[in-house]
Amino acid sequence: MKIVRDQNMDGKLTGKVFFITGCTSGLGLETARAIHATGADIYFTGRDAQKGKEIREALLRDGKPGKAEYVEMHLDSLGSVRAAATEFLRSDKLNVLICSAGVRCCLKGKTKDGFELHFRIKHLGHFALFQALKDILIASSTASFHSRFISLSASGHRQSGIRFDDIHFDKIEKNTSLFLAMRSLHGLAVHPGGITGTSLNCLTPADQITALVAIPDAAICLKSAEQGAATTVWAAIAKELEGKGKDTQRIVRKAASRPWEESLRMISPDTKGEANVS
Ligand SMILES: NC(=O)c1ccc[n+]([C@@H]2O[C@H](COP(=O)([O-])OP(=O)(O)OC[C@H]3O[C@@H](n4cnc5c(N)ncnc54)[C@H](OP(=O)(O)O)[C@@H]3O)[C@@H](O)[C@H]2O)c1
Repeated sequence: MKIVRDQNMDGKLTGKVFFITGCTSGLGLETARAIHATGADIYFTGRDAQKGKEIREALLRDGKPGKAEYVEMHLDSLGSVRAAATEFLRSDKLNVLICSAGVRCCLKGKTKDGFELHFRIKHLGHFALFQALKDILIASSTASFHSRFISLSASGHRQSGIRFDDIHFDKIEKNTSLFLAMRSLHGLAVHPGGITGTSLNCLTPADQITALVAIPDAAICLKSAEQGAATTVWAAIAKELEGKGKDTQRIVRKAASRPWEESLRMISPDTKGEANVS
């Protein structure tokens, strides 16, 4: 909320449309609250209609004029992502797409269509969503308000390059977030910092959290969910970013890289868990 106030955006974005994933908890929920305070219409995703209804009511309680529309979307299912995109595309405008949903430390597992869980949820699901919504993002871009695409990133990708020969992490024991690097191909990739209080860490072994907060340099960097969401909100509305960064036309044209091409292949309806490439 502080970012909204600092940017003098309280109630100023009436008529703008934001689509935000993963708003049932943590950073996505805080982001949705702050963006709704700008007066913009928001479409927020979740996996539970009852939770979605409650969040919608809570968001509307700020008295701002913007819509708050719940969209059901399961990122581990391409069918669900496409259905959510189709539902949203009844709207005639999209100014900002924010991909906040994510998981961490899930037990090793695969989606029904054979993809490793973290990879499917954090990268491929959002990649498919971006592909479905990029045209409306581009069409909605104006000289005074360029469309933005914001993806929550992390630092796990620094541990390794992309393992094209082991997309499903079959050859290593531990799941990590290495594919977030691919999400940095387009738009603004933001690192929210370290937030221990969201549900993201509910499966992280307690001794890892204890060890983290015991490191003085790490402990002073830990944030609340609202503070963590500040980076996303800033990336979404900051005036100083207007007209900066890669414009969406160039993002889409930048399709020649291998991660992009492989991701396109993997979201093709013909590809079922045949993700490994040599
Ligand atoms: N927290 C941190 O310290 C930290 C650090 C670096 C990066 N990040 C990144 O920040 C983002 C948000 O993290 P957070 O701390 O806010 O996590 P969180 O509190 O666990 O929220 C995650 C959100 O993702 C949704 N989600 C999970 N699996 C999904 C699926 N299969 N399909 C659709 N939605 C799904 C959850 O919905 P449900 O309620 O339905 O489960 C929830 O709304 C993540 O992308 C994370 O990688 C966080």
